[in-house]
Amino acid sequence: MAIVLVTGGEGQLGQELKQHVPQGHDLVSLSKSQLDITQDEQIAAAFERYQPDWIINAAAFTDVEASESNVELVQTINVEAVKSLLAYANKFQARFLQISTDYVFDGKSSEPYKEDDKTKPMNVYGDSKLKAEGIVLAEKGLVVRTSWLYSSHHKNFLDTMLRLFENQKEVKVVNDQVGTPTNAASLAKILFRLIDQNADGIFHWSGGLVMSWYDFACQIHGLALDKGLVSVGAKVVPVDSQGFPQKAKRPAWSPLSRKKCCDFLDLEPNAWREELSQEIDLYGKGKL
Ligand SMILES: NC(=O)c1ccc[n+]([C@@H]2O[C@H](COP(=O)([O-])OP(=O)(O)OC[C@H]3O[C@@H](n4cnc5c(N)ncnc54)[C@H](OP(=O)(O)O)[C@@H]3O)[C@@H](O)[C@H]2O)c1
Repeated sequence: MAIVLVTGGEGQLGQELKQHVPQGHDLVSLSKSQLDITQDEQIAAAFERYQPDWIINAAAFTDVEASESNVELVQTINVEAVKSLLAYANKFQARFLQISTDYVFDGKSSEPYKEDDKTKPMNVYGDSKLKAEGIVLAEKGLVVRTSWLYSSHHKNFLDTMLRLFENQKEVKVVNDQVGTPTNAASLAKILFRLIDQNADGIFHWSGGLVMSWYDFACQIHGLALDKGLVSVGAKVVPVDSQGFPQKAKRPAWSPLSRKKCCDFLDLEPNAWREELSQEIDLYGKGKL
């Protein structure tokens, strides 16, 4: 039985990991209040107590916009804490899995990004995640990059859209940022499969379909209407990101290719629309 210790256990991905633990894994999921990864003595105590075989570091400072004005804190959580966690992982001979992001790229590619494509982050958050990647890879760890995570139960684009569709007649969504929305549950399942294969190096996992935030909103709207979850009224309107001035620059085009991961795990491509449909069903049930 492999003991897998998850940090950031109450986050979006952390919660999905708890719900999708396969047989043969003993999951220890710790919230920030149970394990603050910036506190060495708490890390030491967790390793002593649970003696994990694997660490999945799902903890991070993830607010891309707030990162621009919290540079030191981002460095502490997203970089320095990773060094500490990794040092303990080495001491206790545990393997390390770090989650990273499409925001390590600058969005200038014209094809979905592959694992060995040149990185060039455009914002503080992406820069911190790239630094963490380097630290983990130098110790033969595993880095899984993902993008645009959504789920039924946590604050994310899906839940924001569904709330707006219920309450507003017109919902403006940017049409000039393109990526690959990814179901957080599917990512959780892939992480366990990579652990089972004792993988190392970099892998990408994404939903596989390339679209803008506006396209994604339209997909959500269509399914929510079919399911009677929102009223007919809301109109989804495409706009330029210039209409939403933000401190953090974002890559205009950051789809991730998941081919390496599919080949490595011998996976059939998943049904993207079905995954989204299931999450909307779960969201609807959560509201009953
Ligand atoms: N969400 C996305 O679209 C996306 C895309 C690409 C990559 N990723 C990466 O995927 C991973 C998981 O993201 P997510 O969407 O699950 O993010 P999330 O929902 O924001 O979860 C992150 C968790 O980390 C916790 N945390 C923050 N500081 C901590 C600390 N010092 N010690 C322990 N825990 C701490 C947060 O707690 P509090 O909320 O209490 O601060 C939160 O529960 C992250 O590495 C992120 O960079 C996410």
